[in-house]
Amino acid sequence: ISKPDELDSKVAAALPVAGEAALRALAHLGLQRGETLLVLGAAGGVGTIATQLAIAAGAKVVATAGEANHERLRALGAAVTTYGDGQLDRIRALAPHGVDAVLSASATGALGDAVELRGGTTGRIASLADTSAFELGIDFLAGTPADRSRETLRTLVSAWRQGRLVLPPARRFALHDAVAAHRELDHGHGTGKIVLVP
Ligand SMILES: NC(=O)c1ccc[n+]([C@@H]2O[C@H](COP(=O)([O-])OP(=O)(O)OC[C@H]3O[C@@H](n4cnc5c(N)ncnc54)[C@H](OP(=O)(O)O)[C@@H]3O)[C@@H](O)[C@H]2O)c1
Repeated sequence: ISKPDELDSKVAAALPVAGEAALRALAHLGLQRGETLLVLGAAGGVGTIATQLAIAAGAKVVATAGEANHERLRALGAAVTTYGDGQLDRIRALAPHGVDAVLSASATGALGDAVELRGGTTGRIASLADTSAFELGIDFLAGTPADRSRETLRTLVSAWRQGRLVLPPARRFALHDAVAAHRELDHGHGTGKIVLVP
C-alpha cells in the first residue's frame, strides 16, 4: 500500500516491523476486552505499539520499562513499573487479580516471573525476543517476511489515522553514520526506532 501523504516518512519506516510483531503477538495471545495484559519491555517500538493496540481493544495493560519511559507509557494508559530486581512484587501490586496474558518484548525479559504471574503455567505467554522461552516451554514467536502483509500495514495505518497509535519520535542517523546507529542500538535503551536517512 502507498504511504499516506500525511504520515511522516520516518514514522512510516519505523511502523511495519514493530507494528507487525505487536499485532501478531496480540493475536497469538487472543487478548479479550476487559483482560489484563502484562507487557515486559513496553518502552520499545513493539511494546509501545502493543500497549496502545491492547488498550484500544479494551484491555488493561501493566507494563515494565526504564524510568525515563514511565511518563510516556502512563500517558498512553498503561500502569507502569520498573523492570529488574523486585519486579514480580511491583507487578503484583499493579495487577492484584493477576494477569491474563504476557507479551515479552525484551531480549532480557523475566519469563520466570511471567510464569509465576500466570499461576505456574506457560499458557498465554508470548516471547518475541527472549530465547529463554525455549527452555521454559513458552511460545517464542519468530516472524517471517510473509507475516508483513498488506492487510497488516492497512490495520496499522488505520490505527494511526484514528489517533490510536502514537509513536515516539524516531532517532535519526545519516546513512554514513550507520556505525553510530548500531552503537546506539547496542546500548538497548533508546526510545523510538532508529531510522537511517540518506
Ligand atoms: N520475533 C519477532 O518477530 C520480532 C519482531 C520484532 C522485534 N523483535 C525483537 O523484539 C525486541 C524488541 O523490539 P523493539 O523494536 O521494540 O526494540 P527497541 O525499540 O530497541 O526497544 C527495546 C526496549 O527494551 C527495553 N529494555 C531493555 N532492557 C530491558 C529489560 N531488562 N527489561 C525490560 N525492557 C528492557 C528498553 O526500554 P528502556 O529504555 O525503558 O530500558 C528499550 O526501549 C528486540 O529484541 C527485537 O529484535 C522480534
